[in-house]
Amino acid sequence: MHDIERQTADHDVEGLRDLARRLALEAGALVRDGRPDRVEVAATKSSAVDPVTDMDRASEALLRERLATERPHDAILGEEGDDVPGTSGLTWVLDPIDGTVNYLYGVASYAVSVAVVAGPPDPERWTALAGCVHSVVDGRTWTAARGGGAERDGLPLQVNRPASLAASLLGTGFGYEAARRAQQARVLADVLPRVRDIRRLGSAAIDLCLLAEGRLDLYYERGLNPWDMAAGGLVASEAGAWLGGLRGRGASRVMTVAGARPVVDELARLLEDADADGDA
Ligand code: IPD
Repeated sequence: MHDIERQTADHDVEGLRDLARRLALEAGALVRDGRPDRVEVAATKSSAVDPVTDMDRASEALLRERLATERPHDAILGEEGDDVPGTSGLTWVLDPIDGTVNYLYGVASYAVSVAVVAGPPDPERWTALAGCVHSVVDGRTWTAARGGGAERDGLPLQVNRPASLAASLLGTGFGYEAARRAQQARVLADVLPRVRDIRRLGSAAIDLCLLAEGRLDLYYERGLNPWDMAAGGLVASEAGAWLGGLRGRGASRVMTVAGARPVVDELARLLEDADADGDA
């Protein structure tokens, strides 16, 4: 049996999906009900415009506390805390608020993202088993279990199959560092004239789920962290998207591209030609 099949067969992926959903909904309620009228920045991370709020920390603390009780042998990789080692070979990958800038400004597009992966906690090497993305403000909840398809609130999802790159609505995002953004702007100048339009909605997890349900045709972003893509990436691929990187690599911090073939291949070629995975 192939490694990935064995990892999937060895685990109750539906049970893991249901737990991911339960945890994301509970943290989502905390984020929603506890949002003050005026959110303060508690700290910054990769740059002065990469914020952390008290709620990012509180939401992640809650997720970690629940996992310590319910899955004491699993490892944890979360955006706002130290890695917790495990002994089971599974890692929970947590984004307590994906779309923190939207949360800060009260723009209604932010989510709690909870995924569980087998293997090394590295998107190019892990096998994502189950995940949930819960959009906090409107309650939309996307789930996926490996091999079991993707759903939004119980409805099965299927990606769009756009007729061409030119007819595609493309989601993307930008990093928090000025030099990275200058490079992303140069790439965008090549991409924008070749697609229907672009959307920058501010939560990579939600972008990938919108792709899964056909509200975006394609998606790419350079610089995603593992927690930005873990659950949303599984939702997208279980809905029929190809998910990968450029030049034969897997989806990773270097580049994440998603969408239905064959048009996503055209996007990947365009991004390769534009050196979207380089720093120049
Ligand atoms: C960010 C969002 C955003 C993406 C950034 C991410 P955060 O996550 O997903 O859409 O463009 O690359 O860092 O910081 O809000 O968890």
